[in-house]
Amino acid sequence: MSIETIKSENCYVSLKEKSSVVVDYCKKIIENKDLLWYSYFGFNINLVPRKIVLQEPALAKINEKFTINRAAILMMEPYQNYLWHSDLYRDACINMLLSCDHTSHCLFGIKKDEQSFHFHELKYAPSTFYIFNNKFQHSVINFEQKRYLFSMDFECCAKKGKAQNQTDKNLREQRHFDDTLHRDMAFKAQNSEGGNSLYSKLHEWVKSENLI
Ligand SMILES: [Fe+2]
Repeated sequence: MSIETIKSENCYVSLKEKSSVVVDYCKKIIENKDLLWYSYFGFNINLVPRKIVLQEPALAKINEKFTINRAAILMMEPYQNYLWHSDLYRDACINMLLSCDHTSHCLFGIKKDEQSFHFHELKYAPSTFYIFNNKFQHSVINFEQKRYLFSMDFECCAKKGKAQNQTDKNLREQRHFDDTLHRDMAFKAQNSEGGNSLYSKLHEWVKSENLI
C-alpha cells in the first residue's frame, strides 16, 4: 500500500446528523460512579441498549440496510496506548468520541518500516458519528483522563467472527502487531476486499442516502 491511500475517505466518514439521544444517554452512564465496567480487549465497556441506539434517526436508517449488532461505551485508562492493529472480524463500525475535554489521538496508518508508520489522524468532532474502517490499521493514544468512546458494530461481522471461531477456537477477535501470523492475516484482509468491504458498501450507501 502506498502512502497516498492514507486519506480520510479510505479510513472514516462522518455522518451529517449530530447525535442527540446517544450522547446524552452515554453522558449519564459515564457520570454514574456506581456503575460496573467490564473488561474487554484492553478496554472497559458498558453496553448501550438497542432501543437507545435506534432513537437516532440516522442510525435507525442504517440499521434497516445493515443490521446493527452491539453498541457499547468503551473506556480507556489515562496514559494508555492501543497498539497498531487491524480488527479481524470487525470490518467496519460506527464510533463517536464522548471525551472532548482532554487530549487523545486516533490514527490510521501504513507501516513504513520495522520502526515506524505513516499516519493520518481522525480528529473527532463532538456529538458526531463516524463510520470507521476497522480493516485499515489504526492506533489510539490517550493522555491525562479516562477516554470514553461510543462504538457499535454490525451483525454481518459478528456472524463472520462466530463462523471463524468455530473452526479455530484459538483465534481472538483482535490481534496486535507483535503477533506476526495474525498481523499478516489482518493485512491480507485489509488489501483483498477493496470495494467489496463492508466499509466500502456502507460508505457508498450512506452517500446515496444523503447521510454524509
Ligand atoms: Fe481496532
